[in-house]
Amino acid sequence: MVNSCRKLNCNIYIGFYCSAIILPLICICSQFSQPTIDQFTKDPGAFPVATNGELFPWRELRLPTVVIPLHYDLFIHPNLTSLDFVASEKIEVLVRDATQFIILHSNGLEIMNATLQSEEDLRYRKPGKKLTVLSYPAHQQIALMVPEKLRADLRYSVAIDFQAKLADGFEGFYKSTYRTLGGETRTIAVTDFEPTEARMAFPCFDEPLFKANFSIKIRRESRHIALSNMPKIKTVEVDGGLLEDHFGTTVKMSTYLVAYIVCDFNSVSGTASSGVKVSVYASPDKWSQTHYALEASLKLLDFYEKYFDIQYPLPKLDLVAIPDFASGAMENWGLITYRETSLLFDPKTSSTSDKLWITEVIAHELAHQWFGNLVTMEWWNDIWLNEGFATYMELISVNATYPELQFDDDFMNTCFEVIKKDSLNSSHPISNQAETPTQIQEMFDAVSYKKGACILNMLKDFLSEGKFKTGIIHYLKKFSYRNAKNDDLWNSLSNSCLESDFTSGGFCYSDSKTTSNTLTFLGENVEIKEMMTTWTLQKGIPLVVVKQEGRSLRLRQERFLNGVFREDPEWGPLQERYLWHIPLTYATSSSNEIHKHFLKSKTDTLDLPETTSWVKFNVDSNGYYIVHYEGHGWDQLITLLNQNHTLLRPKDRIGLIHDAFQLVSAGRLTLDKALDLTRYLQRETSIPALLKGLEYLELFYHTIDRRNISDITENLKHYILQYFKPVIDMQSWSDEGSVWDRMLRSVLLKLACYLNHTPCIQKATELFSQWVESSGKLNISADVLKIVYSVGAQTTAGWNYLLEQYGLSLSAAEKNKILYALSTSKHQEKLMKLIELGMEGKVIKTQDLAALLHAIARNPKGQQLAWNFVKENWTHLLKKFDLGSFALRMIIFGTTSHFSSKDELQEVKLFFESLKDQGVDLEIFQIVLETISKNIRWLEKNLSTLRNWLLISI
Ligand code: BES
Ligand code: ZN
Repeated sequence: MVNSCRKLNCNIYIGFYCSAIILPLICICSQFSQPTIDQFTKDPGAFPVATNGELFPWRELRLPTVVIPLHYDLFIHPNLTSLDFVASEKIEVLVRDATQFIILHSNGLEIMNATLQSEEDLRYRKPGKKLTVLSYPAHQQIALMVPEKLRADLRYSVAIDFQAKLADGFEGFYKSTYRTLGGETRTIAVTDFEPTEARMAFPCFDEPLFKANFSIKIRRESRHIALSNMPKIKTVEVDGGLLEDHFGTTVKMSTYLVAYIVCDFNSVSGTASSGVKVSVYASPDKWSQTHYALEASLKLLDFYEKYFDIQYPLPKLDLVAIPDFASGAMENWGLITYRETSLLFDPKTSSTSDKLWITEVIAHELAHQWFGNLVTMEWWNDIWLNEGFATYMELISVNATYPELQFDDDFMNTCFEVIKKDSLNSSHPISNQAETPTQIQEMFDAVSYKKGACILNMLKDFLSEGKFKTGIIHYLKKFSYRNAKNDDLWNSLSNSCLESDFTSGGFCYSDSKTTSNTLTFLGENVEIKEMMTTWTLQKGIPLVVVKQEGRSLRLRQERFLNGVFREDPEWGPLQERYLWHIPLTYATSSSNEIHKHFLKSKTDTLDLPETTSWVKFNVDSNGYYIVHYEGHGWDQLITLLNQNHTLLRPKDRIGLIHDAFQLVSAGRLTLDKALDLTRYLQRETSIPALLKGLEYLELFYHTIDRRNISDITENLKHYILQYFKPVIDMQSWSDEGSVWDRMLRSVLLKLACYLNHTPCIQKATELFSQWVESSGKLNISADVLKIVYSVGAQTTAGWNYLLEQYGLSLSAAEKNKILYALSTSKHQEKLMKLIELGMEGKVIKTQDLAALLHAIARNPKGQQLAWNFVKENWTHLLKKFDLGSFALRMIIFGTTSHFSSKDELQEVKLFFESLKDQGVDLEIFQIVLETISKNIRWLEKNLSTLRNWLLISI
């Protein structure tokens, strides 16, 4: 019928104007402004074919903007027994240009009916006109074909009835299950939409720019409750003893922030200073673990409302611990969802780092209520405007609300982590093109989150906290309930700076010569936008090379490349056209002052007032750059650390350790020099600095151990245990001390036991036996729990007992520790059993599979097993996780990135190529290949140096 219509009246390429259902045999030809017959004849293949064989009238991935949504009325009725839902919606749209179709996103939904009413129809209560629905699954779009052209500047109401199964994975409207204390398995239904999965739950304009208001109704059984973004206004009883909750209408927001949950959870509640009701929900047996989250969220909400000088606009905020969750948490407006480990604090089994993580995640998601929810990026290419800011705000808010957590000392690790990725050629600019759902998902990476946060921190340091804060408040207020792009941020920051400081002497002030966006910094004009685009539109990290010549400091900037040496032929081409505007800071031996210099050319010279015995750049490691001291620079700093390390600030000491080892990887500093720099650590009083040094030694140990280079492994082990013996022996197996005391204890004892340090093994074994004897009731300090379990897991009886406890434990924090311990077994059949359980998804949930595979791959006895498993079960893994998902990327990176031989590289390459042949290409492939090449290079260059250094050091 459809085909004959096409041929009969128009020509072959215009058939999609026909509506097989409403207007059989009638074609409305050439009525659209977009595709014309001409276009079709010229480019016949350009339009896709819908599932019913007709042509689909839209060929772009992005929706047209001729029709925009204003309001959604959404009704959902999930059935938690049959595991499906029926639903309907009415979308009020505004037509901006006359059109004959409306394109919406929809993915995997069965659409039963679609009708359209004009304002007039609504006024006179005329029934809706039936619409033809065409579907184009490749773009996750549907086209609603209207019988008569919609007129410009008029509003219409589109009604759609639809249904689907509750999804099996972690996206859209999906089911999640949990076990009660009594052993019963219960099901809940929950949404998770970011970035492109709202379309799996209801047909919608699923792009961040299409903000609208949402009125949601949920039908449920009386044994359940329903939650959504807004508070419930009323509950009505409907047929069949069911209840229907009606929620208040939301503020204007993007689709990815819509959320609803049907569950039987319990909650604790409190009221923030502004009157907002905050509640934390968890499954009934975990209710007792919700209290810390409530305290933290109340404090943090108060903080943000004051800091931003903008009230949280909704009357309530719920935080819910979901038993099956893809990421760490999701900032749905008013209904934030969390993985259990990111929200629930169990005083018995949650360690200090667990507490820090929970606080961080709450701070992050609450920050999104402003950065992301109130002001949203225009498109996913700028997701860093959400995630970079939320990550940066963690630092500001946790420092202010929980100073005892000393989070400030941990922030530099955020930057160090992303530097590892950003110094590979496979990195990408913070703002990066992303069109397909997979590319969009890939944007949620360390660059958007961590580099985003680090460059914001650098900018804050440059402008001063006050001016930076004024600028971001300006930005938030100006773009509230709207969308923004990078330039909007830079303009807000420049203007606020100008408005707030017209006096001289500051680092940002205006004078008559400057344009409205120009600041004067130490006599130089600085365009914030010009400066910041060198950080957002350019990938990578600069290396600042400093050479002291008398009183002059010669400066040079390069692109820092990990694993590519200056003598390599590719080094030169990889440098081309890279230039950053770097706000440098430095300290010297001659004063306590922090000096500043703005480096925006390749080379520059600084003249010091007097000669100095040392100079240290990047004060407090606030800048996103690495520094290399040529000539005697490093020697002077090593001498300084050995003579009196306290002349440098702790963060500067950490920065030196970091930069030195990075420079080793780039072939710019010899390994023995970097190792010499750590010799002062025996006198180090700053725990984060001590941990930084230890981290590198541990990393080298693991690398060498994996390669079975036994002489170096033994000597390095000996060196670490001997060198850190005094501080290892000082550790108690308790929870006492400051956050960093406790972190140090966890790290040191874990390492000591891993290296088979007898006193450590003895104590852990003793504690484990006592714990087993007490049937798991003995309280062991949460900070050492993982260590005790890991030692216990080395015997078959211990391993089996732990697996049993894993199934029974009601603490997600404890379960994580047990799973880690189980993954350290030396028996491959046990490791395989874990993988099987993870694939089955019952005892070990699918949400934990990626972390499990990662942990097994870190175990030298499991590395090959995990990798082989991934290769052989790729298609099964793809059924569980989305291509661009964080889980899949973690599985790929986690099971390969530690390889360090040419054979392994070749094997991984072949596997990726076979995937590419099947049409699968991911950014992570290149990251992995470069990481392995870098490892190979490191070993080639440094192995004998390490061997010799150890021989003279032990
Ligand atoms: N908006 C994200 C959740 C998300 C992640 C959505 C990836 C889509 C793809 C959320 O705000 C987030 O960033 N969560 C983090 C935790 C945070 C503390 C770093 C996460 O899930 O890891
Ligand atoms: Zn986030």
